[in-house]
Amino acid sequence: MASINDNYLKLPGSYLFAEIGRRVAAFKEAHPEADIIRLGIGDVTQPLPAACIEAMHKAVDELANADTFRGYGPEQGYSFLTDAIIEHNYTQRGIHIDSDEIFVSDGSKSDCGNIQEIFGLNNKVAITDPVYPVYLDTNVMAGRTGTLKADGHFEGVTYLPCDASNNFAPALPKERVDMIYLCCPNNPTGTTLSRTELKKWVDYARENQSVILFDAAYAAYITEDDVPRSIYEIEGAKDVAIEFRSFSKTAGFTGTRCGYTIIPKTVKGRAADGTLVEFNKLWNRRHTTKFNGTAYIVQRGAAAIYTPDGQQQVKELVGYYMENARIIREGLETAGITAYGGINAPYIWLKTPNDMPSWDFFDKLLTEVNIVGTPGAGFGPCGEGYFRLTAFGNRENTLRAVERIKTKFRI
Ligand code: MLT
Repeated sequence: MASINDNYLKLPGSYLFAEIGRRVAAFKEAHPEADIIRLGIGDVTQPLPAACIEAMHKAVDELANADTFRGYGPEQGYSFLTDAIIEHNYTQRGIHIDSDEIFVSDGSKSDCGNIQEIFGLNNKVAITDPVYPVYLDTNVMAGRTGTLKADGHFEGVTYLPCDASNNFAPALPKERVDMIYLCCPNNPTGTTLSRTELKKWVDYARENQSVILFDAAYAAYITEDDVPRSIYEIEGAKDVAIEFRSFSKTAGFTGTRCGYTIIPKTVKGRAADGTLVEFNKLWNRRHTTKFNGTAYIVQRGAAAIYTPDGQQQVKELVGYYMENARIIREGLETAGITAYGGINAPYIWLKTPNDMPSWDFFDKLLTEVNIVGTPGAGFGPCGEGYFRLTAFGNRENTLRAVERIKTKFRI
Protein backbone atom coordinates (compact mmCIF):
# COMPACT_ATOMS: atom_id res chain seq x y z
CA MET A 1 0.00 0.00 0.00
CA ALA A 2 1.21 3.49 -0.74
CA SER A 3 2.18 5.46 2.30
CA ILE A 4 1.09 9.03 2.95
CA ASN A 5 2.92 12.20 3.82
CA ASP A 6 2.51 11.88 7.58
CA ASN A 7 3.26 15.57 8.07
CA TYR A 8 -0.30 16.31 6.96
CA LEU A 9 -1.55 14.44 10.02
CA LYS A 10 0.16 16.98 12.25
CA LEU A 11 -2.24 19.67 11.06
CA PRO A 12 -5.36 20.22 13.13
CA GLY A 13 -8.76 19.77 11.43
CA SER A 14 -9.42 21.82 8.34
CA TYR A 15 -8.04 25.03 6.89
CA LEU A 16 -9.34 28.00 8.92
CA PHE A 17 -11.68 29.41 6.26
CA ALA A 18 -12.98 25.96 5.40
CA GLU A 19 -13.89 25.48 9.07
CA ILE A 20 -15.66 28.83 9.19
CA GLY A 21 -17.53 27.95 5.99
CA ARG A 22 -18.60 24.65 7.53
CA ARG A 23 -19.93 26.32 10.71
CA VAL A 24 -21.78 29.00 8.76
CA ALA A 25 -23.34 26.41 6.42
CA ALA A 26 -24.56 24.38 9.43
CA PHE A 27 -26.08 27.50 11.00
CA LYS A 28 -27.74 28.48 7.71
CA GLU A 29 -29.21 25.04 7.33
CA ALA A 30 -30.71 25.19 10.81
CA HIS A 31 -31.87 28.81 10.32
CA PRO A 32 -32.64 29.27 6.62
CA GLU A 33 -34.35 32.59 7.33
CA ALA A 34 -31.24 34.16 8.91
CA ASP A 35 -29.98 37.24 7.08
CA ILE A 36 -26.26 36.50 7.39
CA ILE A 37 -23.69 39.20 6.69
CA ARG A 38 -20.28 37.78 5.81
CA LEU A 39 -17.28 39.75 7.00
CA GLY A 40 -15.13 36.66 7.55
CA ILE A 41 -12.85 35.63 4.72
CA GLY A 42 -11.20 38.61 3.04
CA ASP A 43 -13.01 38.17 -0.24
CA VAL A 44 -13.83 41.23 -2.31
CA THR A 45 -17.37 42.12 -3.36
CA GLN A 46 -17.02 44.95 -5.88
CA PRO A 47 -16.70 44.35 -9.64
CA LEU A 48 -13.38 44.43 -11.45
CA PRO A 49 -12.26 47.91 -12.58
CA ALA A 50 -13.73 48.84 -15.98
CA ALA A 51 -10.24 49.10 -17.51
CA CYS A 52 -9.57 45.45 -16.58
CA ILE A 53 -12.89 44.29 -18.01
CA GLU A 54 -12.26 46.13 -21.26
CA ALA A 55 -8.74 44.68 -21.57
CA MET A 56 -10.00 41.18 -20.84
CA HIS A 57 -12.78 41.44 -23.45
CA LYS A 58 -10.21 42.54 -25.99
CA ALA A 59 -7.98 39.62 -25.03
CA VAL A 60 -10.85 37.19 -25.53
CA ASP A 61 -11.36 38.58 -29.02
CA GLU A 62 -7.66 38.09 -29.76
CA LEU A 63 -7.96 34.45 -28.77
CA ALA A 64 -10.90 34.09 -31.16
CA ASN A 65 -8.72 34.90 -34.14
CA ALA A 66 -5.99 32.61 -35.51
CA ASP A 67 -3.71 35.57 -36.28
CA THR A 68 -3.74 36.87 -32.72
CA PHE A 69 -4.35 33.61 -30.89
CA ARG A 70 -1.93 32.72 -28.05
CA GLY A 71 -1.24 29.35 -26.51
CA TYR A 72 1.38 28.80 -23.83
CA GLY A 73 2.93 32.06 -22.71
CA PRO A 74 6.16 32.61 -20.81
CA GLU A 75 5.81 30.86 -17.43
CA GLN A 76 7.21 33.97 -15.72
CA GLY A 77 4.56 36.26 -17.24
CA TYR A 78 4.21 38.35 -20.39
CA SER A 79 6.54 41.33 -20.62
CA PHE A 80 3.58 43.70 -21.15
CA LEU A 81 2.62 42.89 -17.53
CA THR A 82 6.03 42.44 -15.89
CA ASP A 83 7.37 45.68 -17.43
CA ALA A 84 4.33 47.60 -16.17
CA ILE A 85 4.67 46.14 -12.66
CA ILE A 86 8.37 46.93 -12.47
CA GLU A 87 7.87 50.47 -13.75
CA HIS A 88 4.93 51.39 -11.47
CA ASN A 89 5.70 49.52 -8.27
CA TYR A 90 9.48 49.60 -8.24
CA THR A 91 11.25 51.93 -10.71
CA GLN A 92 8.98 54.84 -9.78
CA ARG A 93 9.88 54.25 -6.12
CA GLY A 94 13.61 54.23 -6.89
CA ILE A 95 13.96 50.45 -6.73
CA HIS A 96 15.73 48.57 -9.50
CA ILE A 97 14.25 45.17 -10.35
CA ASP A 98 15.49 43.20 -13.38
CA SER A 99 12.94 41.63 -15.70
CA ASP A 100 14.17 38.14 -14.73
CA GLU A 101 13.56 38.84 -11.04
CA ILE A 102 9.76 38.82 -11.33
CA PHE A 103 7.48 35.79 -11.60
CA VAL A 104 3.77 36.23 -12.38
CA SER A 105 1.52 33.56 -10.90
CA ASP A 106 -2.08 32.66 -10.16
CA GLY A 107 -1.98 34.57 -6.88
CA SER A 108 0.23 35.12 -3.89
CA LYS A 109 -1.45 32.43 -1.77
CA SER A 110 0.12 29.84 -4.08
CA ASP A 111 3.48 31.58 -4.05
CA CYS A 112 3.55 32.11 -0.27
CA GLY A 113 2.67 28.46 0.14
CA ASN A 114 5.06 27.06 -2.46
CA ILE A 115 8.13 29.20 -1.82
CA GLN A 116 9.27 26.99 1.06
CA GLU A 117 9.94 24.18 -1.46
CA ILE A 118 13.17 25.86 -2.54
CA PHE A 119 14.48 25.99 1.04
CA GLY A 120 16.17 23.12 2.86
CA LEU A 121 14.08 21.10 5.27
CA ASN A 122 16.53 21.82 8.06
CA ASN A 123 15.86 25.56 7.94
CA LYS A 124 14.49 27.13 11.09
CA VAL A 125 11.25 29.03 10.42
CA ALA A 126 10.00 32.13 12.24
CA ILE A 127 6.41 33.30 11.95
CA THR A 128 4.43 35.93 13.74
CA ASP A 129 1.61 34.85 16.03
CA PRO A 130 -1.14 35.49 14.91
CA VAL A 131 -0.33 34.71 11.29
CA TYR A 132 -1.90 34.06 7.89
CA PRO A 133 -2.18 30.24 8.20
CA VAL A 134 -0.66 29.46 4.79
CA TYR A 135 2.93 30.19 5.87
CA LEU A 136 2.80 27.84 8.84
CA ASP A 137 0.63 25.08 7.39
CA THR A 138 2.79 24.67 4.28
CA ASN A 139 5.91 24.33 6.39
CA VAL A 140 4.15 21.72 8.53
CA MET A 141 3.14 19.83 5.36
CA ALA A 142 6.74 19.92 4.14
CA GLY A 143 8.05 18.44 7.39
CA ARG A 144 9.93 21.51 8.60
CA THR A 145 8.25 21.37 12.03
CA GLY A 146 7.60 18.95 14.85
CA THR A 147 4.16 18.16 16.18
CA LEU A 148 1.47 20.45 17.54
CA LYS A 149 1.87 21.07 21.26
CA ALA A 150 -0.89 21.59 23.82
CA ASP A 151 -0.24 25.34 23.78
CA GLY A 152 -1.23 25.48 20.09
CA HIS A 153 2.34 25.95 18.84
CA PHE A 154 4.27 23.53 16.64
CA GLU A 155 7.56 22.17 17.91
CA GLY A 156 10.56 23.52 16.10
CA VAL A 157 8.94 26.79 14.97
CA THR A 158 9.98 30.19 16.30
CA TYR A 159 6.86 32.18 17.09
CA LEU A 160 6.97 35.95 17.27
CA PRO A 161 4.06 37.09 19.46
CA CYS A 162 2.18 40.18 18.29
CA ASP A 163 -0.49 41.77 20.41
CA ALA A 164 -1.53 45.16 21.71
CA SER A 165 1.32 45.11 24.27
CA ASN A 166 3.96 45.37 21.51
CA ASN A 167 1.76 47.34 19.14
CA PHE A 168 1.61 44.22 16.92
CA ALA A 169 5.27 44.67 15.95
CA PRO A 170 7.18 41.42 16.54
CA ALA A 171 10.43 41.46 18.50
CA LEU A 172 13.52 39.94 16.85
CA PRO A 173 13.91 36.25 17.71
CA LYS A 174 16.29 35.34 20.51
CA GLU A 175 17.66 32.39 18.56
CA ARG A 176 18.97 32.38 14.98
CA VAL A 177 16.35 31.60 12.30
CA ASP A 178 16.70 31.03 8.56
CA MET A 179 13.30 31.85 7.09
CA ILE A 180 11.24 34.76 8.41
CA TYR A 181 7.68 35.35 7.24
CA LEU A 182 6.51 38.95 7.57
CA CYS A 183 3.21 40.31 6.29
CA CYS A 184 2.82 44.08 5.99
CA PRO A 185 0.17 45.50 6.01
CA ASN A 186 -0.64 42.61 8.23
CA ASN A 187 -3.23 39.94 7.77
CA PRO A 188 -4.92 39.41 10.22
CA THR A 189 -4.18 42.39 12.50
CA GLY A 190 -4.47 45.13 9.87
CA THR A 191 -1.43 46.82 11.43
CA THR A 192 1.86 47.77 9.79
CA LEU A 193 5.59 47.96 10.41
CA SER A 194 7.27 51.34 10.12
CA ARG A 195 10.42 51.87 8.10
CA THR A 196 12.47 51.72 11.31
CA GLU A 197 10.84 48.46 12.40
CA LEU A 198 11.38 46.87 9.00
CA LYS A 199 15.00 48.02 8.89
CA LYS A 200 15.58 46.06 12.13
CA TRP A 201 14.43 42.91 10.32
CA VAL A 202 16.52 43.54 7.24
CA ASP A 203 19.59 44.12 9.44
CA TYR A 204 18.84 40.95 11.39
CA ALA A 205 18.50 38.94 8.17
CA ARG A 206 21.79 40.33 6.83
CA GLU A 207 23.64 39.59 10.07
CA ASN A 208 22.21 36.08 10.35
CA GLN A 209 22.15 35.14 6.65
CA SER A 210 18.39 34.61 6.89
CA VAL A 211 15.79 35.22 4.18
CA ILE A 212 12.69 37.37 4.76
CA LEU A 213 9.57 36.17 2.96
CA PHE A 214 7.69 39.43 2.74
CA ASP A 215 3.99 39.29 1.95
CA ALA A 216 2.88 42.70 0.67
CA ALA A 217 -0.48 41.58 -0.73
CA TYR A 218 -2.19 44.56 0.92
CA ALA A 219 0.34 47.24 -0.08
CA ALA A 220 -2.30 49.13 -2.10
CA TYR A 221 -4.12 49.91 1.16
CA ILE A 222 -1.27 51.84 2.79
CA THR A 223 -2.23 55.44 3.48
CA GLU A 224 0.56 56.57 5.83
CA ASP A 225 3.91 57.79 4.52
CA ASP A 226 6.05 56.00 7.08
CA VAL A 227 4.92 52.55 5.94
CA PRO A 228 7.06 51.08 3.14
CA ARG A 229 5.09 49.88 0.09
CA SER A 230 7.85 47.40 -0.69
CA ILE A 231 10.52 45.87 1.51
CA TYR A 232 13.07 46.91 -1.12
CA GLU A 233 12.58 50.50 0.03
CA ILE A 234 14.76 49.42 2.96
CA GLU A 235 18.47 49.57 2.31
CA GLY A 236 20.06 46.15 1.97
CA ALA A 237 16.74 44.29 1.57
CA LYS A 238 17.51 43.17 -1.97
CA ASP A 239 20.15 40.80 -0.58
CA VAL A 240 17.83 39.11 1.90
CA ALA A 241 14.17 39.45 0.91
CA ILE A 242 11.65 37.83 -1.38
CA GLU A 243 8.46 39.85 -1.91
CA PHE A 244 4.94 38.63 -2.72
CA ARG A 245 2.34 40.93 -4.29
CA SER A 246 -1.19 40.33 -5.44
CA PHE A 247 -3.88 41.75 -7.69
CA SER A 248 -6.56 40.10 -5.52
CA LYS A 249 -7.04 42.88 -3.01
CA THR A 250 -5.58 45.64 -5.18
CA ALA A 251 -7.99 45.21 -8.08
CA GLY A 252 -10.59 42.64 -7.07
CA PHE A 253 -8.84 39.59 -8.58
CA THR A 254 -9.66 37.09 -5.78
CA GLY A 255 -11.62 34.99 -8.29
CA THR A 256 -9.69 36.03 -11.39
CA ARG A 257 -6.33 35.05 -9.84
CA CYS A 258 -3.11 36.92 -10.48
CA GLY A 259 -0.13 37.76 -8.32
CA TYR A 260 3.62 37.93 -8.56
CA THR A 261 6.79 37.26 -6.64
CA ILE A 262 10.02 39.23 -6.76
CA ILE A 263 13.20 37.25 -6.16
CA PRO A 264 16.29 39.41 -6.58
CA LYS A 265 19.27 37.43 -7.87
CA THR A 266 21.23 38.74 -4.91
CA VAL A 267 19.19 36.61 -2.46
CA LYS A 268 21.22 33.45 -1.96
CA GLY A 269 21.27 30.30 0.13
CA ARG A 270 23.90 27.66 0.76
CA ALA A 271 23.92 24.27 -0.98
CA ALA A 272 24.96 21.10 0.85
CA ASP A 273 28.46 21.37 -0.65
CA GLY A 274 28.79 24.91 0.71
CA THR A 275 28.37 26.82 -2.56
CA LEU A 276 26.10 29.87 -2.69
CA VAL A 277 23.05 29.49 -4.93
CA GLU A 278 20.55 32.13 -6.09
CA PHE A 279 17.01 31.39 -4.91
CA ASN A 280 15.91 33.05 -8.16
CA LYS A 281 17.41 30.17 -10.17
CA LEU A 282 15.68 27.56 -8.04
CA TRP A 283 12.30 29.32 -8.25
CA ASN A 284 12.66 29.70 -12.00
CA ARG A 285 13.34 25.97 -12.25
CA ARG A 286 10.33 25.21 -10.07
CA HIS A 287 8.02 27.68 -11.80
CA THR A 288 8.85 26.45 -15.30
CA THR A 289 8.49 22.82 -14.19
CA LYS A 290 5.26 23.08 -12.22
CA PHE A 291 3.45 26.05 -13.75
CA ASN A 292 2.43 26.93 -17.29
CA GLY A 293 1.75 30.60 -16.83
CA THR A 294 -1.19 32.74 -15.77
CA ALA A 295 -3.96 32.97 -18.37
CA TYR A 296 -3.29 35.55 -21.11
CA ILE A 297 -6.72 37.11 -20.56
CA VAL A 298 -6.05 37.53 -16.86
CA GLN A 299 -2.61 39.06 -17.44
CA ARG A 300 -4.13 41.55 -19.89
CA GLY A 301 -6.71 42.47 -17.25
CA ALA A 302 -3.99 42.86 -14.61
CA ALA A 303 -1.83 45.05 -16.87
CA ALA A 304 -4.79 47.38 -17.39
CA ILE A 305 -4.57 48.61 -13.79
CA TYR A 306 -1.40 50.46 -14.80
CA THR A 307 -3.14 52.58 -17.45
CA PRO A 308 -4.25 56.06 -16.33
CA ASP A 309 -7.91 54.93 -16.24
CA GLY A 310 -6.97 51.75 -14.42
CA GLN A 311 -4.95 53.67 -11.82
CA GLN A 312 -7.89 55.96 -11.12
CA GLN A 313 -10.35 53.06 -10.89
CA VAL A 314 -8.11 51.09 -8.53
CA LYS A 315 -7.76 54.16 -6.35
CA GLU A 316 -11.55 54.43 -6.15
CA LEU A 317 -11.92 50.71 -5.42
CA VAL A 318 -9.38 50.78 -2.61
CA GLY A 319 -11.01 54.00 -1.31
CA TYR A 320 -14.39 52.26 -1.23
CA TYR A 321 -13.09 49.45 0.97
CA MET A 322 -11.11 51.82 3.16
CA GLU A 323 -14.28 53.80 3.80
CA ASN A 324 -15.84 50.52 4.97
CA ALA A 325 -12.83 50.05 7.24
CA ARG A 326 -13.41 53.49 8.74
CA ILE A 327 -17.12 52.74 9.25
CA ILE A 328 -16.34 49.46 11.01
CA ARG A 329 -13.59 50.85 13.16
CA GLU A 330 -15.58 53.89 14.30
CA GLY A 331 -18.71 51.79 14.81
CA LEU A 332 -16.82 49.38 17.05
CA GLU A 333 -15.40 52.24 19.06
CA THR A 334 -18.92 53.65 19.52
CA ALA A 335 -19.97 50.23 20.80
CA GLY A 336 -17.14 50.38 23.35
CA ILE A 337 -15.06 47.75 21.54
CA THR A 338 -11.32 48.34 21.13
CA ALA A 339 -10.25 48.06 17.51
CA TYR A 340 -6.90 48.05 15.69
CA GLY A 341 -5.93 48.16 12.04
CA GLY A 342 -8.18 49.55 9.33
CA ILE A 343 -5.93 52.58 8.65
CA ASN A 344 -3.44 51.03 6.21
CA ALA A 345 -5.27 47.75 5.67
CA PRO A 346 -8.75 46.42 4.95
CA TYR A 347 -8.83 44.39 8.18
CA ILE A 348 -10.06 45.45 11.61
CA TRP A 349 -8.71 43.48 14.53
CA LEU A 350 -10.87 43.91 17.57
CA LYS A 351 -10.50 42.94 21.20
CA THR A 352 -13.38 40.66 22.13
CA PRO A 353 -15.64 42.17 24.83
CA ASN A 354 -14.73 40.94 28.32
CA ASP A 355 -11.89 38.84 26.86
CA MET A 356 -14.40 36.36 25.50
CA PRO A 357 -12.66 33.43 23.76
CA SER A 358 -12.61 34.24 20.06
CA TRP A 359 -14.52 31.15 18.87
CA ASP A 360 -17.21 31.92 21.47
CA PHE A 361 -17.41 35.45 20.10
CA PHE A 362 -17.66 33.98 16.60
CA ASP A 363 -20.65 31.87 17.69
CA LYS A 364 -22.22 34.80 19.52
CA LEU A 365 -21.99 37.12 16.51
CA LEU A 366 -23.23 34.42 14.16
CA THR A 367 -26.16 33.25 16.24
CA GLU A 368 -27.25 36.55 17.83
CA VAL A 369 -26.65 39.13 15.11
CA ASN A 370 -25.99 36.87 12.11
CA ILE A 371 -22.56 38.30 11.34
CA VAL A 372 -19.64 36.15 10.24
CA GLY A 373 -16.15 37.24 11.23
CA THR A 374 -12.90 35.35 11.81
CA PRO A 375 -11.86 34.26 15.32
CA GLY A 376 -8.40 35.49 16.23
CA ALA A 377 -7.44 32.10 17.66
CA GLY A 378 -7.74 30.67 14.15
CA PHE A 379 -4.59 32.65 13.28
CA GLY A 380 -2.58 31.36 16.25
CA PRO A 381 -2.66 31.24 20.05
CA CYS A 382 -1.79 34.95 20.39
CA GLY A 383 -4.92 35.75 18.38
CA GLU A 384 -7.01 34.45 21.27
CA GLY A 385 -9.20 37.23 22.66
CA TYR A 386 -9.18 39.01 19.28
CA PHE A 387 -11.46 38.86 16.26
CA ARG A 388 -11.09 39.98 12.64
CA LEU A 389 -13.66 41.80 10.52
CA THR A 390 -13.01 42.50 6.85
CA ALA A 391 -13.77 45.76 5.09
CA PHE A 392 -14.35 43.91 1.79
CA GLY A 393 -18.14 43.69 2.17
CA ASN A 394 -20.43 45.95 0.19
CA ARG A 395 -21.33 49.30 1.76
CA GLU A 396 -24.90 48.39 2.61
CA ASN A 397 -23.94 45.20 4.44
CA THR A 398 -21.08 46.91 6.21
CA LEU A 399 -23.41 49.62 7.53
CA ARG A 400 -26.02 47.04 8.55
CA ALA A 401 -23.42 44.89 10.30
CA VAL A 402 -22.07 47.84 12.24
CA GLU A 403 -25.58 48.86 13.32
CA ARG A 404 -26.27 45.34 14.54
CA ILE A 405 -23.01 45.29 16.54
CA LYS A 406 -23.69 48.73 18.00
CA THR A 407 -27.19 47.72 19.06
CA LYS A 408 -25.93 44.51 20.62
CA PHE A 409 -22.84 45.78 22.43
CA ARG A 410 -23.31 49.48 23.11
CA ILE A 411 -22.53 50.03 26.77
C1 MLT B 1 -8.09 36.10 4.33
O1 MLT B 1 -9.27 36.23 4.57
O2 MLT B 1 -7.24 36.01 5.21
C2 MLT B 1 -7.67 36.08 2.91
O3 MLT B 1 -8.73 36.25 2.06
C3 MLT B 1 -7.05 34.82 2.58
C4 MLT B 1 -6.32 34.87 1.29
O4 MLT B 1 -6.02 35.93 0.73
O5 MLT B 1 -6.00 33.78 0.86
